[in-house]
Amino acid sequence: VTRANKLVIGNWKMNGSMESNHALLDGVLVGLEQAGCKAVVAVCSPFPYLAQVAGLLKGTAVSWGAQDVSAHGQGAYTGEVSAAMLSEFGCRWAIVGHSERRAMHQESAQLVADKAEAAATVGLTPVFCVGETLAEREADRVQSVIAAQLAPLFAKGDDLVARTVVAYEPVWAIGTGKTASPEQAQQVHGFIRAQLPASAKSIPLLYGGSVKPDNAATLFAMDDIDGGLIGGAALVAKDFVAIAAA
Ligand code: G3P
Repeated sequence: VTRANKLVIGNWKMNGSMESNHALLDGVLVGLEQAGCKAVVAVCSPFPYLAQVAGLLKGTAVSWGAQDVSAHGQGAYTGEVSAAMLSEFGCRWAIVGHSERRAMHQESAQLVADKAEAAATVGLTPVFCVGETLAEREADRVQSVIAAQLAPLFAKGDDLVARTVVAYEPVWAIGTGKTASPEQAQQVHGFIRAQLPASAKSIPLLYGGSVKPDNAATLFAMDDIDGGLIGGAALVAKDFVAIAAA
């Protein structure tokens, strides 16, 4: 996947039900069609709903992904889901290193890179999340924090980086209604682009953190912002469609 097309991915987080997923996807599919949306669009649901989502999206232009994936191949890893299991029934994307997992599940930078590698090995595209906390931003540590999060990924080789999507999600902007300004976001996206190996310069860099219909277009217009990773607004069909159309 390259930045030639804008990419908009919904991260449902731990939300949904059989009934609400169905209604949401119906609304998204109809809405995208009506809007004549040109972006590449995907949704990442909780694991138990992936088969339902796969069924509902079959034959449509919307692809689907998981919100996490195991770094391990198979075996005695209770509670884990492997990349091979996901790919077996049509998964396209795997979010890795979301800040909620880094913070609440103590995921290290190395583990996140291992997950990205496990995903890419079976042909899934890792959506590799990075981002600083408010304290880190106030201490002027944005670049060093993001460089440290990316380092174990880069250490795995340019090939893997070239098959990855990076999502910049400032932790202070997630679910808070506080969006990074387009300039703030561009500054970090430009920094990330500059760090990428030459063969991976054209991977998509997504912005995430309180993207809404009214701020999506200005964010997506920035030079190095190739789309978005959408949380809360991805749960409302008309909002998600408006963002994808932007
Ligand atoms: O992964 C998407 C996310 O963390 C942003 O969430 O609710 O601020 O759009 P939200």
